[in-house]
Amino acid sequence: MSVEKTFYGKMPCGKDVHSYSIKNSSGACAQIITKGATLDRLFVPDRAGKLTDILVGFDDLEGHVERTDYQGVVVGQYANRIAGGRFTLSGVEYNVTRNEKGITCLHGGGEYSGAVWDAEIISDNAVKFTYFSPDMNEGFPGNVDVSVTYTFTDDNALDIAYHAVSDRDTIINLTNHAYFNLAGHGSILGTQLRIAADYYTPIDENSIPLGKLASVSGTPFDFTVSKEIGRDINAEDSQLKNGAGYDHNFCINGFDGSLRPAAVAYEPASGRVMQVLTTLPGVQLYTGNFLKGVIGKGGKPMDYRTGFCLETQYYPNTPNVPDFPSCVLKKGAEYSSETVFCFSVK
Ligand code: BGC
Repeated sequence: MSVEKTFYGKMPCGKDVHSYSIKNSSGACAQIITKGATLDRLFVPDRAGKLTDILVGFDDLEGHVERTDYQGVVVGQYANRIAGGRFTLSGVEYNVTRNEKGITCLHGGGEYSGAVWDAEIISDNAVKFTYFSPDMNEGFPGNVDVSVTYTFTDDNALDIAYHAVSDRDTIINLTNHAYFNLAGHGSILGTQLRIAADYYTPIDENSIPLGKLASVSGTPFDFTVSKEIGRDINAEDSQLKNGAGYDHNFCINGFDGSLRPAAVAYEPASGRVMQVLTTLPGVQLYTGNFLKGVIGKGGKPMDYRTGFCLETQYYPNTPNVPDFPSCVLKKGAEYSSETVFCFSVK
């Protein structure tokens, strides 16, 4: 195992961005850049042992800076949406950045994903990224110290461990926003997916959960038995219409804060399997419904549904829905969560 640090590029403000490549003994590797603590490349073997980068993304820093679809980044302080960019905590109302259509806060206003993080190699297969978010940045209370540690193992597991401490009561929801394509390129509609969720959170036209869980049974949202992502994606269904495809939070069965299976994706042509485990209560399946036209890796334009995200998270708009598992981080307490992406072949 080894970690290699290289210069990646310069931000428009002049700040240097570095990349850290964690390579295992078979040559598989995870590359993370300091801008947004972004998972930039992930080379894992197919059935024949051939290594391919299975992430949609960009060839260089310019793409990461210019684009707003959050490729591979760590999002925070609150991943996903907060209705009206507003919530009340301990009797105080907070207004956070409304960066989506002027009405919704999406991905914390882009703060964490847009920042250049500090990085430290902590072992021969792990790199720790740290970021300090000042009090009231994007409207979120608390001076927050965050760390995200990426560990890549010899058996092709990428472990992402999140920690945070705040000096005021606040809310927190951190995730990684990688767009996966287990074949390396092309449509993701033939990828088979199973999600360990009997319930999901239906949304309104602004992608805000309606507040109640709904059973997936008998709907296009039933991934309890593995099926192709594309099988029902074009079904006549008002929820699919609201998301322009899948762009919904699934409630992981049996959430208790321990690391548990959330999803398994299998791409039949390459044989690649990706298993997702998390300590968090939800996972957003987003099927790249808005990827189009932008020049991505290899100088090729991206296309609809050529990448899918499995963003482990607290449910969207949790700060305004008391019944959802709480995302409150108390002053001085330690936030921690973990998500693991395990790769194998079949
Ligand atoms: C959201 C999508 C959004 C995408 C990129 C996902 O987490 O749910 O609606 O288009 O991020 O911003």
